[in-house]
Amino acid sequence: MVGILAPMTEGQQQKKVILSGMQPTNDLTIGQYCGALRNWVELQHEYESLFCVVDLHAITVRQEPAKLRKRTLDVAAMYMAAGIDPDVSTLFVQSHVPEHTQLNWVLTCLTGFGECSRMTQFKDKSAMHADNVNVGLFTYPILMAADILLYNADLVPVGEDQRQHLELTRNLAERFNFHYSPTFTVPEPFIPKVGAKIMSLQEPEKKMSKSDPNEKATIFMVDTDEQILSKVKRAVTDSGTTIVYDEKRPGVANLMTLYSITTGKSNAEIEREFAGLGYAEFKDAVGHAIVTFLRPVRERYVAIRSDEDALKATLKRGAEAARERARKVLRKVYKKTGFVEF
Ligand code: TYM
Repeated sequence: MVGILAPMTEGQQQKKVILSGMQPTNDLTIGQYCGALRNWVELQHEYESLFCVVDLHAITVRQEPAKLRKRTLDVAAMYMAAGIDPDVSTLFVQSHVPEHTQLNWVLTCLTGFGECSRMTQFKDKSAMHADNVNVGLFTYPILMAADILLYNADLVPVGEDQRQHLELTRNLAERFNFHYSPTFTVPEPFIPKVGAKIMSLQEPEKKMSKSDPNEKATIFMVDTDEQILSKVKRAVTDSGTTIVYDEKRPGVANLMTLYSITTGKSNAEIEREFAGLGYAEFKDAVGHAIVTFLRPVRERYVAIRSDEDALKATLKRGAEAARERARKVLRKVYKKTGFVEF
């Protein structure tokens, strides 16, 4: 799928477009890295790429303003530390491009109440934040559709938990195209074969989450070496003894996935490496592999994050480039919808 080029236009080969984003609701986790960020880094050279920090989505859950402001910059810096090159990709903050909320409204009026009610993330999040089940949480996936359709993204690199939102996005694109006339690209999800759902270290049948109240369950990209080693050492496995990839043994399978992603080894190689060895040796190797892998990322992160003016300038440049494109698409959408041109 990677590297397919669109037909020639005006004598030029146009690259296909990817767009993705993450919420600045906490530090990024190794789950988000494995499911999404690492693929952004790989795909950015083959696609025209846009990556945003989705701060508008973040306020569907109560946020402290100062923390949200800080984390928005933290997340942008982590994108760059992980390998997003702002000279290659357009890197921006969602709220800096007001067209996202403008398209959101048009799409909201095309979305059925029942469609939003069926979203499993809404059900999960409203159960988790029972004291604040706001309408934004309910309409959240429509704003996500606006993020994607505003740039006519062909491909959306995300983890497994976003599949249903992508399906809604595709339906909305098709609906708009049908009711008015062909306007939006119908995007495809890009969900990796390995790492699309990294599991909690403490409850391996549950997704690793940045908001898990149990700190031991989640590896954050900014964790220290000691924290990483300790979390992996305490990871829940099972009563077995062999290091073999088996989805019915989610704790071991999850650690194997993390080891595979951080070392580049296949499951077969890992099984050979640990034949005859026990969980203690395996966990030790996994912990050290993650440490070795994340240390340079963390060092780059500290350097990038320490120059806030430069970071903000990069984001401003990104927002300007994104707006330029977004404005054109929104103008077209408004016209087709029947709004008098301003
Ligand atoms: P968010 O912020 O929850 O997560 C960001 C990305 O990380 C992936 N991810 C995981 N992948 C594997 N294992 C895990 N344990 C794991 N946890 C998270 C997510 O699938 C996601 O790709 N709604 C989105 C943000 C968004 C967006 C968009 C994404 C807003 N607009 C437009 C793509 C395009 C979200 O909440 O992601």
